[in-house]
Amino acid sequence: MNTAVGCPFHKASEAYKPFDLTNPFPVYKQAREEEPIFFNEELGYYVVTRFQDIKDIFGNWKVFTSENAQSPFKTIAPKAKALMDEGGLVGLSGLSGRIPPDHTRIRRIVSMAFNMSRFKKLEPRIRDLAVSMIEDFSHKGKTNIIKDLAYDLPAHVIFMLLGVPNEDVQQVKSWAESRLLLTWGDLSEDEQLTHAQNLVKYWNYCQALVAQRKENPTDDLPGDLVRYQAEGYEITDREIAAMCYSALFAGHETTTSLIGNGIRELLIHRKSWEALCQNPEMIPNAVEEILRYSPSIVSWRRRSTEEAIIGGVSIPAGSNILLLMGSGNRDETQFENGEIFDIERKNANQHLSMGSGIHFCLGAPLAKLESKVVLEELTKRLPNLKLTPDQTFEFAHNTSFRAPVALEVEW
Ligand code: HEM
Repeated sequence: MNTAVGCPFHKASEAYKPFDLTNPFPVYKQAREEEPIFFNEELGYYVVTRFQDIKDIFGNWKVFTSENAQSPFKTIAPKAKALMDEGGLVGLSGLSGRIPPDHTRIRRIVSMAFNMSRFKKLEPRIRDLAVSMIEDFSHKGKTNIIKDLAYDLPAHVIFMLLGVPNEDVQQVKSWAESRLLLTWGDLSEDEQLTHAQNLVKYWNYCQALVAQRKENPTDDLPGDLVRYQAEGYEITDREIAAMCYSALFAGHETTTSLIGNGIRELLIHRKSWEALCQNPEMIPNAVEEILRYSPSIVSWRRRSTEEAIIGGVSIPAGSNILLLMGSGNRDETQFENGEIFDIERKNANQHLSMGSGIHFCLGAPLAKLESKVVLEELTKRLPNLKLTPDQTFEFAHNTSFRAPVALEVEW
Protein backbone atom coordinates (compact mmCIF):
# COMPACT_ATOMS: atom_id res chain seq x y z
CA MET A 1 0.00 0.00 0.00
CA ASN A 2 1.26 3.48 -0.84
CA THR A 3 1.23 5.60 2.28
CA ALA A 4 1.81 8.86 0.45
CA VAL A 5 2.37 11.76 2.80
CA GLY A 6 3.52 15.19 1.69
CA CYS A 7 6.43 17.06 3.20
CA PRO A 8 5.45 18.26 6.69
CA PHE A 9 7.82 21.25 6.58
CA HIS A 10 7.26 22.81 3.19
CA LYS A 11 4.23 24.06 1.39
CA ALA A 12 3.39 21.83 -1.60
CA SER A 13 4.31 24.66 -3.97
CA GLU A 14 7.81 24.76 -2.42
CA ALA A 15 8.22 20.99 -2.28
CA TYR A 16 7.17 20.56 -5.94
CA LYS A 17 10.21 19.68 -8.11
CA PRO A 18 9.01 19.87 -11.71
CA PHE A 19 11.82 17.84 -13.33
CA ASP A 20 11.99 15.07 -10.70
CA LEU A 21 9.49 12.32 -11.46
CA THR A 22 10.91 9.65 -9.15
CA ASN A 23 7.95 9.75 -6.77
CA PRO A 24 5.98 12.97 -7.25
CA PHE A 25 2.75 11.55 -5.79
CA PRO A 26 3.10 12.59 -2.12
CA VAL A 27 3.60 16.23 -3.14
CA TYR A 28 0.69 16.00 -5.58
CA LYS A 29 -1.52 14.77 -2.73
CA GLN A 30 -0.36 17.53 -0.44
CA ALA A 31 -1.07 20.10 -3.16
CA ARG A 32 -4.60 18.77 -3.80
CA GLU A 33 -5.31 19.16 -0.12
CA GLU A 34 -3.55 22.44 0.61
CA GLU A 35 -2.89 24.42 -2.58
CA PRO A 36 -4.75 22.79 -5.46
CA ILE A 37 -3.59 25.50 -7.86
CA PHE A 38 -0.23 27.20 -7.35
CA PHE A 39 2.31 29.15 -9.35
CA ASN A 40 5.71 27.52 -9.97
CA GLU A 41 8.48 30.10 -10.38
CA GLU A 42 11.00 27.73 -11.93
CA LEU A 43 8.72 26.94 -14.87
CA GLY A 44 6.66 30.13 -14.85
CA TYR A 45 3.52 27.97 -14.92
CA TYR A 46 0.33 27.73 -12.89
CA VAL A 47 0.14 24.13 -11.70
CA VAL A 48 -3.31 22.50 -11.44
CA THR A 49 -3.71 19.35 -9.36
CA ARG A 50 -7.40 18.46 -8.88
CA PHE A 51 -9.34 16.12 -11.16
CA GLN A 52 -12.28 18.37 -11.94
CA ASP A 53 -10.19 21.49 -12.57
CA ILE A 54 -7.97 19.58 -14.99
CA LYS A 55 -10.96 18.07 -16.75
CA ASP A 56 -12.64 21.48 -17.06
CA ILE A 57 -9.50 22.97 -18.58
CA PHE A 58 -9.10 20.09 -21.06
CA GLY A 59 -12.77 20.55 -21.96
CA ASN A 60 -12.51 24.25 -22.86
CA TRP A 61 -10.10 24.64 -25.76
CA LYS A 62 -11.17 28.20 -26.50
CA VAL A 63 -10.17 29.60 -23.12
CA PHE A 64 -7.36 27.09 -22.58
CA THR A 65 -5.52 26.68 -25.85
CA SER A 66 -3.08 23.80 -26.43
CA GLU A 67 -0.83 25.91 -28.65
CA ASN A 68 1.94 25.82 -26.01
CA ALA A 69 1.74 22.01 -25.60
CA GLN A 70 4.89 21.40 -27.63
CA SER A 71 6.92 24.53 -26.80
CA PRO A 72 10.26 23.98 -25.09
CA PHE A 73 10.05 24.56 -21.32
CA LYS A 74 13.51 26.07 -21.31
CA THR A 75 14.35 28.91 -23.70
CA ILE A 76 16.21 27.62 -26.73
CA ALA A 77 19.62 29.29 -27.10
CA PRO A 78 20.13 31.46 -30.25
CA LYS A 79 22.40 29.01 -32.14
CA ALA A 80 20.07 26.05 -31.68
CA LYS A 81 17.04 28.21 -32.49
CA ALA A 82 18.64 29.50 -35.72
CA LEU A 83 19.32 25.93 -36.76
CA MET A 84 15.73 24.92 -36.15
CA ASP A 85 14.40 28.01 -37.96
CA GLU A 86 16.47 27.20 -41.02
CA GLY A 87 15.33 23.58 -40.88
CA GLY A 88 11.64 24.64 -41.02
CA LEU A 89 10.88 23.37 -37.53
CA VAL A 90 9.32 26.47 -36.06
CA GLY A 91 5.72 26.06 -34.97
CA LEU A 92 5.64 22.46 -36.11
CA SER A 93 2.96 20.28 -34.54
CA GLY A 94 1.01 17.26 -35.71
CA LEU A 95 -2.21 17.87 -33.83
CA SER A 96 -1.69 18.42 -30.14
CA GLY A 97 -0.37 21.98 -30.47
CA ARG A 98 -2.99 23.03 -33.05
CA ILE A 99 -6.44 24.48 -32.47
CA PRO A 100 -9.63 24.60 -34.55
CA PRO A 101 -10.33 25.08 -37.38
CA ASP A 102 -7.01 23.53 -38.53
CA HIS A 103 -7.09 20.98 -35.72
CA THR A 104 -10.63 19.87 -36.62
CA ARG A 105 -9.84 19.58 -40.33
CA ILE A 106 -6.60 17.61 -39.85
CA ARG A 107 -7.90 15.43 -37.00
CA ARG A 108 -10.90 14.36 -39.09
CA ILE A 109 -8.64 13.15 -41.90
CA VAL A 110 -6.04 11.58 -39.60
CA SER A 111 -8.78 9.74 -37.67
CA MET A 112 -9.79 7.99 -40.89
CA ALA A 113 -6.28 6.48 -41.02
CA PHE A 114 -5.86 5.94 -37.26
CA ASN A 115 -8.85 3.67 -37.00
CA MET A 116 -9.62 0.61 -34.97
CA SER A 117 -9.60 -1.68 -37.99
CA ARG A 118 -5.99 -0.65 -38.79
CA PHE A 119 -5.03 -1.21 -35.16
CA LYS A 120 -6.86 -4.55 -35.02
CA LYS A 121 -5.09 -5.67 -38.18
CA LEU A 122 -1.82 -5.16 -36.30
CA GLU A 123 -2.81 -7.35 -33.34
CA PRO A 124 -1.46 -10.68 -34.71
CA ARG A 125 1.83 -8.98 -35.63
CA ILE A 126 2.04 -7.39 -32.18
CA ARG A 127 1.45 -10.79 -30.58
CA ASP A 128 4.09 -12.50 -32.76
CA LEU A 129 6.55 -9.78 -31.84
CA ALA A 130 5.78 -10.05 -28.12
CA VAL A 131 6.09 -13.85 -28.16
CA SER A 132 9.38 -13.84 -30.05
CA MET A 133 10.87 -11.16 -27.79
CA ILE A 134 9.81 -13.03 -24.63
CA GLU A 135 11.14 -16.31 -26.04
CA ASP A 136 14.45 -14.62 -26.83
CA PHE A 137 15.10 -13.78 -23.18
CA SER A 138 13.06 -16.40 -21.32
CA HIS A 139 16.03 -18.81 -20.99
CA LYS A 140 18.11 -16.15 -19.18
CA GLY A 141 16.33 -16.27 -15.81
CA LYS A 142 16.69 -12.52 -15.39
CA THR A 143 16.65 -9.42 -17.56
CA ASN A 144 16.18 -5.68 -17.81
CA ILE A 145 12.67 -5.91 -19.24
CA ILE A 146 12.64 -2.32 -20.50
CA LYS A 147 15.60 -3.08 -22.74
CA ASP A 148 14.49 -6.56 -23.83
CA LEU A 149 10.78 -5.93 -24.34
CA ALA A 150 9.12 -2.66 -23.34
CA TYR A 151 11.38 -0.38 -25.36
CA ASP A 152 11.54 -2.23 -28.65
CA LEU A 153 8.02 -3.57 -28.99
CA PRO A 154 6.16 -0.24 -29.29
CA ALA A 155 8.99 1.09 -31.48
CA HIS A 156 8.46 -1.75 -33.94
CA VAL A 157 4.70 -1.23 -33.86
CA ILE A 158 4.83 2.50 -34.53
CA PHE A 159 7.40 1.94 -37.25
CA MET A 160 5.09 -0.64 -38.86
CA LEU A 161 2.26 1.87 -38.71
CA LEU A 162 4.42 4.54 -40.32
CA GLY A 163 6.13 2.25 -42.80
CA VAL A 164 9.68 3.03 -41.60
CA PRO A 165 11.97 0.22 -42.84
CA ASN A 166 13.83 -1.88 -40.24
CA GLU A 167 17.26 -0.61 -41.28
CA ASP A 168 16.28 2.99 -40.36
CA VAL A 169 14.77 2.21 -36.99
CA GLN A 170 17.77 2.86 -34.70
CA GLN A 171 18.66 6.10 -36.42
CA VAL A 172 15.14 7.50 -36.42
CA LYS A 173 14.69 6.51 -32.78
CA SER A 174 17.75 8.42 -31.66
CA TRP A 175 16.49 11.54 -33.47
CA ALA A 176 13.02 11.23 -31.98
CA GLU A 177 14.49 11.10 -28.47
CA SER A 178 16.04 14.50 -29.05
CA ARG A 179 12.51 15.84 -29.26
CA LEU A 180 11.68 14.83 -25.70
CA LEU A 181 14.84 16.34 -24.28
CA LEU A 182 14.65 19.59 -26.22
CA THR A 183 11.00 20.19 -25.35
CA TRP A 184 10.53 18.79 -21.85
CA GLY A 185 14.12 18.47 -20.59
CA ASP A 186 16.61 20.78 -18.91
CA LEU A 187 19.58 20.95 -21.35
CA SER A 188 22.75 23.04 -21.52
CA GLU A 189 23.31 25.24 -24.62
CA ASP A 190 25.73 22.75 -26.19
CA GLU A 191 23.37 19.87 -25.62
CA GLN A 192 20.57 21.90 -27.19
CA LEU A 193 22.64 22.35 -30.33
CA THR A 194 23.27 18.63 -30.76
CA HIS A 195 19.62 17.79 -30.24
CA ALA A 196 18.50 20.60 -32.59
CA GLN A 197 20.70 19.08 -35.33
CA ASN A 198 19.04 15.72 -34.73
CA LEU A 199 15.59 17.25 -34.96
CA VAL A 200 16.34 18.80 -38.32
CA LYS A 201 17.47 15.39 -39.59
CA TYR A 202 14.37 13.80 -38.14
CA TRP A 203 12.08 16.37 -39.78
CA ASN A 204 13.82 15.92 -43.15
CA TYR A 205 13.32 12.17 -42.80
CA CYS A 206 9.57 12.64 -42.23
CA GLN A 207 9.30 14.90 -45.27
CA ALA A 208 11.09 12.26 -47.35
CA LEU A 209 8.66 9.61 -46.06
CA VAL A 210 5.77 11.61 -47.55
CA ALA A 211 7.60 12.26 -50.83
CA GLN A 212 8.28 8.52 -51.20
CA ARG A 213 4.57 7.68 -50.71
CA LYS A 214 3.75 9.93 -53.65
CA GLU A 215 6.07 7.88 -55.85
CA ASN A 216 5.17 4.48 -54.37
CA PRO A 217 1.81 4.25 -52.58
CA THR A 218 2.02 2.02 -49.46
CA ASP A 219 -0.44 0.54 -46.98
CA ASP A 220 0.58 2.54 -43.91
CA LEU A 221 -0.33 5.78 -42.15
CA PRO A 222 1.52 8.24 -44.42
CA GLY A 223 0.38 6.16 -47.42
CA ASP A 224 -3.25 6.56 -46.32
CA LEU A 225 -2.87 10.29 -45.77
CA VAL A 226 -1.26 10.82 -49.17
CA ARG A 227 -4.13 8.84 -50.73
CA TYR A 228 -6.77 10.96 -48.95
CA GLN A 229 -5.00 14.07 -50.17
CA ALA A 230 -5.14 12.75 -53.76
CA GLU A 231 -8.88 12.07 -53.28
CA GLY A 232 -9.40 15.75 -52.46
CA TYR A 233 -9.21 15.86 -48.66
CA GLU A 234 -7.62 19.09 -47.56
CA ILE A 235 -4.27 18.21 -45.99
CA THR A 236 -0.86 19.50 -47.09
CA ASP A 237 2.41 17.58 -47.45
CA ARG A 238 3.82 19.54 -44.50
CA GLU A 239 0.82 18.56 -42.35
CA ILE A 240 1.22 14.88 -43.27
CA ALA A 241 4.96 14.99 -42.52
CA ALA A 242 4.19 16.75 -39.21
CA MET A 243 1.79 13.92 -38.31
CA CYS A 244 4.57 11.37 -38.92
CA TYR A 245 6.99 13.53 -36.93
CA SER A 246 4.53 13.60 -34.01
CA ALA A 247 3.24 10.04 -34.17
CA LEU A 248 6.74 8.54 -34.08
CA PHE A 249 7.27 10.36 -30.87
CA ALA A 250 3.76 10.14 -29.37
CA GLY A 251 3.47 6.43 -30.06
CA HIS A 252 6.70 5.10 -28.71
CA GLU A 253 8.03 6.11 -25.28
CA THR A 254 4.53 6.64 -23.93
CA THR A 255 3.72 3.01 -24.60
CA THR A 256 7.14 1.81 -23.41
CA SER A 257 6.38 3.54 -20.12
CA LEU A 258 2.88 2.07 -19.94
CA ILE A 259 4.35 -1.43 -20.28
CA GLY A 260 7.26 -0.65 -17.93
CA ASN A 261 5.18 1.12 -15.27
CA GLY A 262 2.61 -1.64 -15.60
CA ILE A 263 4.98 -4.55 -15.00
CA ARG A 264 6.56 -2.64 -12.11
CA GLU A 265 3.26 -1.85 -10.36
CA LEU A 266 1.89 -5.34 -10.90
CA LEU A 267 5.01 -6.92 -9.43
CA ILE A 268 5.15 -4.51 -6.49
CA HIS A 269 1.48 -5.30 -5.87
CA ARG A 270 2.17 -8.99 -6.32
CA LYS A 271 -1.40 -10.19 -5.70
CA SER A 272 -2.49 -8.21 -8.76
CA TRP A 273 0.08 -10.02 -10.89
CA GLU A 274 -1.10 -13.37 -9.57
CA ALA A 275 -4.73 -12.42 -10.23
CA LEU A 276 -3.88 -11.65 -13.88
CA CYS A 277 -2.02 -14.95 -14.25
CA GLN A 278 -5.17 -16.75 -13.05
CA ASN A 279 -7.69 -14.51 -14.84
CA PRO A 280 -6.27 -12.91 -17.98
CA GLU A 281 -9.69 -11.43 -18.77
CA MET A 282 -8.93 -8.92 -16.01
CA ILE A 283 -6.04 -7.48 -18.03
CA PRO A 284 -7.89 -4.68 -19.91
CA ASN A 285 -9.13 -3.12 -16.66
CA ALA A 286 -5.69 -3.58 -15.11
CA VAL A 287 -4.24 -1.57 -18.02
CA GLU A 288 -6.68 1.27 -17.22
CA GLU A 289 -5.66 1.16 -13.56
CA ILE A 290 -1.97 1.28 -14.51
CA LEU A 291 -2.68 4.34 -16.64
CA ARG A 292 -4.53 5.94 -13.73
CA TYR A 293 -2.11 5.11 -10.96
CA SER A 294 1.23 5.31 -12.75
CA PRO A 295 0.69 7.35 -15.92
CA SER A 296 3.25 7.56 -18.72
CA ILE A 297 2.57 11.30 -18.99
CA VAL A 298 2.06 12.95 -15.61
CA SER A 299 1.52 16.48 -16.92
CA TRP A 300 0.39 18.34 -20.03
CA ARG A 301 0.10 21.99 -20.98
CA ARG A 302 -2.39 24.69 -21.86
CA ARG A 303 -2.35 28.50 -21.99
CA SER A 304 -5.22 30.81 -21.02
CA THR A 305 -6.46 33.04 -23.84
CA GLU A 306 -8.45 35.22 -21.42
CA GLU A 307 -8.69 35.77 -17.69
CA ALA A 308 -10.33 32.71 -16.14
CA ILE A 309 -11.40 31.41 -12.76
CA ILE A 310 -10.47 27.81 -12.09
CA GLY A 311 -11.14 26.15 -8.75
CA GLY A 312 -11.80 29.60 -7.30
CA VAL A 313 -8.37 30.90 -8.41
CA SER A 314 -8.12 33.72 -10.91
CA ILE A 315 -5.70 32.99 -13.74
CA PRO A 316 -4.69 35.99 -15.85
CA ALA A 317 -4.98 35.96 -19.66
CA GLY A 318 -1.86 34.58 -21.37
CA SER A 319 -0.82 32.36 -18.43
CA ASN A 320 0.95 29.07 -18.99
CA ILE A 321 -0.73 26.21 -17.16
CA LEU A 322 0.58 22.77 -16.25
CA LEU A 323 -2.10 20.16 -15.69
CA LEU A 324 -0.93 17.39 -13.37
CA MET A 325 -2.93 14.43 -14.61
CA GLY A 326 -0.81 12.20 -12.38
CA SER A 327 -2.38 14.08 -9.47
CA GLY A 328 -5.95 14.36 -10.79
CA ASN A 329 -5.89 10.61 -11.32
CA ARG A 330 -5.59 10.06 -7.56
CA ASP A 331 -8.07 12.73 -6.51
CA GLU A 332 -10.24 11.17 -3.80
CA THR A 333 -13.31 13.10 -4.93
CA GLN A 334 -13.22 11.12 -8.17
CA PHE A 335 -11.42 7.89 -7.19
CA GLU A 336 -12.20 6.32 -3.84
CA ASN A 337 -8.93 5.37 -2.10
CA GLY A 338 -7.15 6.97 -5.03
CA GLU A 339 -3.68 6.29 -3.62
CA ILE A 340 -4.33 2.54 -3.74
CA PHE A 341 -3.58 0.40 -6.78
CA ASP A 342 -6.67 -1.68 -7.47
CA ILE A 343 -6.94 -3.54 -10.79
CA GLU A 344 -10.64 -4.16 -10.14
CA ARG A 345 -11.47 -0.47 -9.73
CA LYS A 346 -14.80 0.17 -11.46
CA ASN A 347 -14.04 3.65 -12.78
CA ALA A 348 -10.33 3.22 -13.53
CA ASN A 349 -10.94 4.23 -17.14
CA GLN A 350 -12.00 7.72 -16.06
CA HIS A 351 -8.32 8.67 -15.69
CA LEU A 352 -6.95 11.76 -17.43
CA SER A 353 -3.72 10.17 -18.63
CA MET A 354 -4.59 10.46 -22.31
CA GLY A 355 -6.18 13.89 -22.06
CA SER A 356 -9.83 14.72 -22.58
CA GLY A 357 -11.86 16.82 -24.99
CA ILE A 358 -10.93 17.65 -28.58
CA HIS A 359 -7.30 16.53 -28.21
CA PHE A 360 -8.03 13.17 -26.58
CA CYS A 361 -5.22 10.80 -27.56
CA LEU A 362 -5.74 9.30 -31.00
CA GLY A 363 -3.44 6.37 -30.26
CA ALA A 364 -5.18 5.31 -27.02
CA PRO A 365 -6.66 2.07 -28.41
CA LEU A 366 -3.30 1.09 -29.89
CA ALA A 367 -1.34 1.73 -26.69
CA LYS A 368 -3.88 -0.28 -24.68
CA LEU A 369 -3.88 -3.09 -27.23
CA GLU A 370 -0.07 -3.38 -27.11
CA SER A 371 -0.04 -3.45 -23.31
CA LYS A 372 -2.82 -6.01 -23.17
CA VAL A 373 -1.02 -8.33 -25.58
CA VAL A 374 2.28 -7.99 -23.69
CA LEU A 375 0.65 -8.73 -20.32
CA GLU A 376 -1.29 -11.69 -21.75
CA GLU A 377 1.86 -13.26 -23.14
CA LEU A 378 4.04 -12.47 -20.11
CA THR A 379 1.60 -13.76 -17.50
CA LYS A 380 1.11 -16.92 -19.57
CA ARG A 381 4.84 -17.56 -20.14
CA LEU A 382 6.53 -16.20 -17.01
CA PRO A 383 4.01 -16.39 -14.15
CA ASN A 384 6.90 -16.51 -11.63
CA LEU A 385 8.21 -13.13 -12.73
CA LYS A 386 9.36 -10.92 -9.86
CA LEU A 387 11.31 -7.72 -9.36
CA THR A 388 15.01 -8.22 -8.71
CA PRO A 389 15.44 -7.19 -5.06
CA ASP A 390 17.34 -4.08 -3.93
CA GLN A 391 17.11 -2.08 -7.13
CA THR A 392 16.47 1.64 -7.19
CA PHE A 393 14.16 2.90 -9.88
CA GLU A 394 15.33 5.85 -11.94
CA PHE A 395 13.07 8.04 -14.02
CA ALA A 396 14.19 10.30 -16.89
CA HIS A 397 14.73 13.91 -15.77
CA ASN A 398 11.92 15.96 -17.37
CA THR A 399 8.55 17.50 -16.53
CA SER A 400 6.09 15.10 -18.10
CA PHE A 401 7.19 11.68 -19.31
CA ARG A 402 7.47 9.31 -16.39
CA ALA A 403 9.46 6.40 -17.77
CA PRO A 404 11.49 3.93 -15.69
CA VAL A 405 14.98 3.91 -17.17
CA ALA A 406 15.49 0.21 -16.34
CA LEU A 407 13.47 -2.54 -14.71
CA GLU A 408 15.37 -5.61 -13.53
CA VAL A 409 13.23 -8.73 -13.21
CA GLU A 410 13.90 -12.42 -12.59
CA TRP A 411 11.98 -15.68 -12.66
C1 HEM B 1 0.33 5.10 -23.00
C2 HEM B 1 0.40 5.65 -24.17
C3 HEM B 1 -0.05 7.04 -24.47
C4 HEM B 1 -0.32 8.08 -23.63
C5 HEM B 1 -0.23 8.12 -22.11
C6 HEM B 1 -0.73 9.20 -24.46
C7 HEM B 1 -1.11 10.42 -23.96
C8 HEM B 1 -1.55 11.49 -24.73
C9 HEM B 1 -1.90 12.79 -24.22
C10 HEM B 1 -1.82 13.21 -22.76
C11 HEM B 1 -2.28 13.55 -25.27
C12 HEM B 1 -2.75 15.01 -25.21
C13 HEM B 1 -4.24 15.04 -24.96
C14 HEM B 1 -4.84 16.42 -24.75
O1 HEM B 1 -4.18 17.44 -25.02
O2 HEM B 1 -6.03 16.47 -24.34
C15 HEM B 1 -2.17 12.73 -26.45
C16 HEM B 1 -2.47 13.14 -27.72
C17 HEM B 1 -2.17 12.43 -28.83
N1 HEM B 1 -1.67 11.13 -28.89
FE1 HEM B 1 -1.28 9.94 -27.33
N2 HEM B 1 -0.69 8.82 -25.75
C18 HEM B 1 -0.26 7.52 -25.82
C19 HEM B 1 -0.08 6.74 -26.95
C20 HEM B 1 -0.22 7.21 -28.23
C21 HEM B 1 0.04 6.42 -29.41
C22 HEM B 1 0.44 4.96 -29.43
C23 HEM B 1 -0.16 7.26 -30.47
C24 HEM B 1 -0.02 7.00 -31.92
C25 HEM B 1 0.06 5.85 -32.49
C26 HEM B 1 -0.60 8.55 -29.94
C27 HEM B 1 -0.95 9.64 -30.70
C28 HEM B 1 -1.47 10.80 -30.20
C29 HEM B 1 -1.87 11.92 -31.05
C30 HEM B 1 -1.81 11.99 -32.56
C31 HEM B 1 -2.33 12.94 -30.18
C32 HEM B 1 -2.83 14.34 -30.55
C33 HEM B 1 -4.36 14.35 -30.61
C34 HEM B 1 -4.92 15.75 -30.84
O3 HEM B 1 -4.32 16.75 -30.45
O4 HEM B 1 -6.02 15.83 -31.43
N3 HEM B 1 -0.62 8.47 -28.57
N4 HEM B 1 -1.73 11.47 -26.10
